[in-house]
Amino acid sequence: MGWNTWNAYSWNVTELDVRNAADALVETGFRDAGYEYLVVDDCWMAEELADDGSFRNHPEDFPAGIADLADYVHDRGLKFGIYSSAGTETCAGHEASLGNEQRHAEQFAEWGVDYLKYDNCGDHRDRDAIDRYAAMGEALERVDRDVVYSICEWGNNEPWRWGRNVDGHLWRTTGDILAKWKRSEDDEFGLGVVDIIDEMDERDIAGYHGPNGWNDPDMLQVGNGPDSAQSQSEGFTVDQPFREAEQRTHFSFWCLFAAPLMAGNDLRELDETTREILLNEDAIAIDQDPLGIQGTRDETDGDREVWSKRLDGGECAVILLNRGDEPVDIETSVETVDLHLSDDVGSYAVTDVWNGEEWTTDGSLEATVDSHGVAFFRVGAA
Ligand code: GLA
Repeated sequence: MGWNTWNAYSWNVTELDVRNAADALVETGFRDAGYEYLVVDDCWMAEELADDGSFRNHPEDFPAGIADLADYVHDRGLKFGIYSSAGTETCAGHEASLGNEQRHAEQFAEWGVDYLKYDNCGDHRDRDAIDRYAAMGEALERVDRDVVYSICEWGNNEPWRWGRNVDGHLWRTTGDILAKWKRSEDDEFGLGVVDIIDEMDERDIAGYHGPNGWNDPDMLQVGNGPDSAQSQSEGFTVDQPFREAEQRTHFSFWCLFAAPLMAGNDLRELDETTREILLNEDAIAIDQDPLGIQGTRDETDGDREVWSKRLDGGECAVILLNRGDEPVDIETSVETVDLHLSDDVGSYAVTDVWNGEEWTTDGSLEATVDSHGVAFFRVGAA
């Protein structure tokens, strides 16, 4: 869990923004809720590497240097992450790491980096993805520091099959997430929340997911919308509001998927709804459940769907999803979902993650669900 600069700052991030974000993560309670890694995305580096191939910090935007910034972040009880690309350039066109992996891994370790997001932009010099990502994985293994290795290859070459073998800890499964429900024909690239939910399902990759090797459906857009910096960047089209029900659906599914929770909201403008969604303890507990299972779909009936995942102790998390434009009643039962309690349990305890209500049932699970919304339950023995 953590917070990354990209969705809120795009390519305009500065060292001051990162310091302010570090302070805000502490003040807002995000750090204490588990959002521990503060990751600086693209554009922290100078446009060109030094003559010996090493990275230099961006002279105007990151004047104090990365070691100094990492110290600031560490002093606030957070971990520090950084970004590069497995190509000649980052997506913003700054020179990146291909061919300089060892040198860069050593710089990261020296600076106190705890997490590397490793993107897929720039020229690949005819090297395939496994080769390029293994080069950095091996370099990170050789340095004297534990660095979480986040493979950002967009799912192009099925990284869930080889991510662990190149020492990766998580890998993007899909293209870039937009702050919207569904992509439109005008989008040059990027995916809406429901597009990513569908791709996670179609790719049938839950079996590759688990502790120390996570499928990553991309960062959170909760709290963002058409005005956020990434939505305004070149190539993206976010023109409709990203509704509250849609944002709750987004967070619920990422928790059901046991996905990495990397927030990307603008911490300078934290509103109550965003805070309430991102800091929901029951939802976070479902995300962080020790079994680390990626939930899957159990049932479809038109716009009504039932999804679930097994939790530690045989309990279960359930999502009732309404894809339609009108509110609907959705009903399923404990027999349909991934519940593994002993046969003599005749009565089940249900907690509604979003409104905190608790009740018991002898088997039926039901709710009236808003358009593009969910009901999100935890189910156990009564
Ligand atoms: C790619 C990645 C994004 C972000 C940008 C930065 O698009 O997929 O997550 O890191 O590059 O330029």
